Amino acid sequence: MSKLQFKNKWVLVTGASSGLGQEMARQLAYQHQANLVLLARRRDKLEQLKTELEKDAKVNVKVVVADLSNIKDVDRAMDDILKDEQLYGSILNAGVTYFGRHAELGWDQFETMLQTNVVSVVRITNRLLAHFEATGNEGGILIVSSMAGLFPVPYQSAYSATKAFILTFARALTHEIKNPRFSLSVYAPGGIVTEMTAGENFHDLQGWLMPVKQAAKEGIYALQTRKSTYVPGLLNRVGGFFMNLLPSKFITGKMSKVYERALNKAQGPNPKI
Ligand SMILES: NC(=O)c1ccc[n+]([C@@H]2O[C@H](COP(=O)([O-])OP(=O)(O)OC[C@H]3O[C@@H](n4cnc5c(N)ncnc54)[C@H](OP(=O)(O)O)[C@@H]3O)[C@@H](O)[C@H]2O)c1
Repeated sequence: MSKLQFKNKWVLVTGASSGLGQEMARQLAYQHQANLVLLARRRDKLEQLKTELEKDAKVNVKVVVADLSNIKDVDRAMDDILKDEQLYGSILNAGVTYFGRHAELGWDQFETMLQTNVVSVVRITNRLLAHFEATGNEGGILIVSSMAGLFPVPYQSAYSATKAFILTFARALTHEIKNPRFSLSVYAPGGIVTEMTAGENFHDLQGWLMPVKQAAKEGIYALQTRKSTYVPGLLNRVGGFFMNLLPSKFITGKMSKVYERALNKAQGPNPKI
């Protein structure tokens, strides 16, 4: 399969109002001259980015405001996007986390995370796949999972499980695709410096985080070169290789200690449950 070439093509980026999605949108515009569909809930951030990219990168940008935790909004957004734009690439990046004791995660918050991180990703992938199978057009999807989907992360148990779901979903589904010009890739970064990791619970883990520019660049590379599963950063890849050689219970136990320590430092050792 040939590499994707984004110049003058439309690329959807969900979660483009901050962090990884915003940076991928910027790099796609400035370095690849892609036209962009920017999706998130915060209209002001998306409009600001649209103004900047249209003026400075000279690309076309469309803003779609949608709440991906609401399935009706997901469908409305996809109707709108597939009606107007000849989509070429799609980066399903929007996501939310919860870092804390699972017992303290409210049910509503859990459902919102499940809808955003899992249900919307499956729904959008279904819509895109049906579109590309019907048209036979060239294109690709990048689903943003996480290393937390490859290795279970205590104190992010539910988040970690949502990322494992979409990782396995994408890896399996890719083998069902009939359109030979269409690819489904999954991206599994470790920690990144973004709004998601800006909270005080993550304070002790800042040394592990990858700059967002590097994470964005490697994500675009994974989509462009149609990688099946891609982990950015040599250290993450080497670390992941060795972690796979060790018993899962041992590795998860070690991770548990690190995350528990970070949480205790941020919240004190005897949190209310
Ligand atoms: N940061 C990390 O360490 C890390 C590591 C591995 C993987 N990831 C993954 O990378 C992706 C991007 O995360 P990030 O680190 O860039 O976090 P971020 O800065 O918090 O950005 C999250 C993005 O998702 C959007 N979003 C959240 N809920 C939404 C909803 N209900 N509907 C529509 N958009 C929604 C947010 O926009 P609005 O608030 O404007 O809606 C925002 O643009 C996530 O899938 C995350 O799981 C992050």
